[in-house]
Amino acid sequence: ADAPRLVVAVDGPSGSGKSSVCRAAARELGAAYLDTGAMYRAAAWYCLDQGVDFDDEDAVAVAVEELPLSISTDPDHQTVTVGQADVTDAIRGSAVSEAVSEVSTNRRARSLLVDAQRRIIDEAGVVVAEGRDITTVVAPDAPVRVLLTASAEVRLARRGLQLGGEQSAESLHRQVLARDAKDSTAVNFTEAADGVAVLDSTDLTFEETVASLVDRVRAVR
Ligand code: DC
Repeated sequence: ADAPRLVVAVDGPSGSGKSSVCRAAARELGAAYLDTGAMYRAAAWYCLDQGVDFDDEDAVAVAVEELPLSISTDPDHQTVTVGQADVTDAIRGSAVSEAVSEVSTNRRARSLLVDAQRRIIDEAGVVVAEGRDITTVVAPDAPVRVLLTASAEVRLARRGLQLGGEQSAESLHRQVLARDAKDSTAVNFTEAADGVAVLDSTDLTFEETVASLVDRVRAVR
């Protein structure tokens, strides 16, 4: 018999808690987990490493074409490597965070990364995949499609916690809103597309949010 297949597609803005919610849900479901944002980040890391000129869109696209990326889909062991380099931690740094929109707003780069994401999802079988365009572009036929949202206040507060509070609220606020605004020019992740359920976590605990996602999956299983 064929291995079971089920794609759970989750999109949302930064600070919505997507990554931790999706990882926990995948663990509970015994599913694989794909963080597509990590792929955009790894691509940006590679561009920086190769000294690619971000003003040269073709050069960025060529770098993404050649990107020797490997990403694990085990929710308990997130490892991202580019060539021989383990970039798991480096892709969370501010240099990559500042550069990543140069990749995510590049159309050819997006199309290459979307293809790679579809291949990983196909191989994974049962998988929770999260990003900005999973419900609309990468896996629009997924049986579970969710837009995870939270109020701007709550998203900023959660980001503050994530960064260990070393940044001023004001600079965080600017950073998060600027990145979401820039990303919105490439993909719409602030409104749910047709057939996509909105899961608003503003008034939910982390556990309640995970349970809500898991319940939606169990309902179609
Ligand atoms: O979720 P994140 O912050 O790790 O995402 C990193 C960047 O990649 C962010 O600028 C949004 C972008 N991204 C995207 O455009 N499409 C995706 N499917 C995932 C992330």
